[in-house]
Amino acid sequence: MAKPLIAGNWKMNGTVAEGEDLAQSIRDKLGDRPEIATVLCPPFIALPRVAGALAGSEILVGAQNLYPEASGAFTGEVSPTMLAGLCSYVIVGHSERRALLGETSEFVARKAVAAAEAGLRPVVCVGESLEVRDAGNAEEFVAGQLVASLEGVTDAASLVVGYEPVWAIGTGRSARPDVAQTMIGRLRSTLGDLFGAEAASEIPILYGGSVSAENVGPFVDRPDIDGALVGGASLKPDEFVQIVKLTASIRV
Ligand code: PGA
Repeated sequence: MAKPLIAGNWKMNGTVAEGEDLAQSIRDKLGDRPEIATVLCPPFIALPRVAGALAGSEILVGAQNLYPEASGAFTGEVSPTMLAGLCSYVIVGHSERRALLGETSEFVARKAVAAAEAGLRPVVCVGESLEVRDAGNAEEFVAGQLVASLEGVTDAASLVVGYEPVWAIGTGRSARPDVAQTMIGRLRSTLGDLFGAEAASEIPILYGGSVSAENVGPFVDRPDIDGALVGGASLKPDEFVQIVKLTASIRV
C-alpha cells in the first residue's frame, strides 16, 4: 500500500508573509508525523520562505505548476530546475489550469516528465466535468485523461495521482466516497496496465474536491484512496492539521 499523503493546494491565496505564517502555524500544530507525507503547495513566490519555515520538519513543499523546459525565452514561467532546490512535489494538470488556461493532457504529460527528470514528484490531476458524469462515461473519460497525461512518464516510483471531479472543486459538494473509490480503483488498474500491478499499488492516489475535516474520514477509509488534495481547507491551519491527523489515524 502507498504511504498516505495529504497535500494542501493554497492556489492563488495569501501574501508571502501570510504564507510563511501559515506554514509555521501548520508546523507548530502538526508536530512530527513521519507516518504520513504532508505537502504544502504555496504560490511560487512564497516557496523560498515557506521552505525556510518548514526546514528540519517532516512537512514537504510542493509547487502548483511548472513549465516543461529547463530555461529560455518563456516569459513568466518557472522551470523544473528552478524548483528543484525549493520543493520536492509539483502539481500538474489541475483542472483550473486545464479549464482557465487551456492546458491539454499532452502538455500536462510534458510537465510530468520534466518534473520527474528534475527529481520532483509530479502530482498529476485528472477529473471529469458534471457534463461528462451526467453522460455516464466518467470512468472512461478520466482513465483516458490519465493515460494521456502520463505519456512518456516512466518513473512510477515518483508519481502521485489526484482524482478531482471538477464539479466537486470549491463547491462544497464533495463526491460520495464510494463513487470516488470506484473511480480511483479504476485509475489504479489503469496505472497497473502502464507500470505493472506492484508498482501501481505503491502510487499514492488522492481524492480532491471539497475535502474537509468533517468528510475526509470516509474517503481515506476506502481501500484505494491514499489521501487527499485539499484546497480551501488547507488555508485553515487547525482544520488542515486535523485532516492530516485523521488520515494518519485511519490509513496507517
Ligand atoms: P477544494 O479544492 O478543496 O477547495 O475543493 C481542491 C483542489 O482544487 O485541489
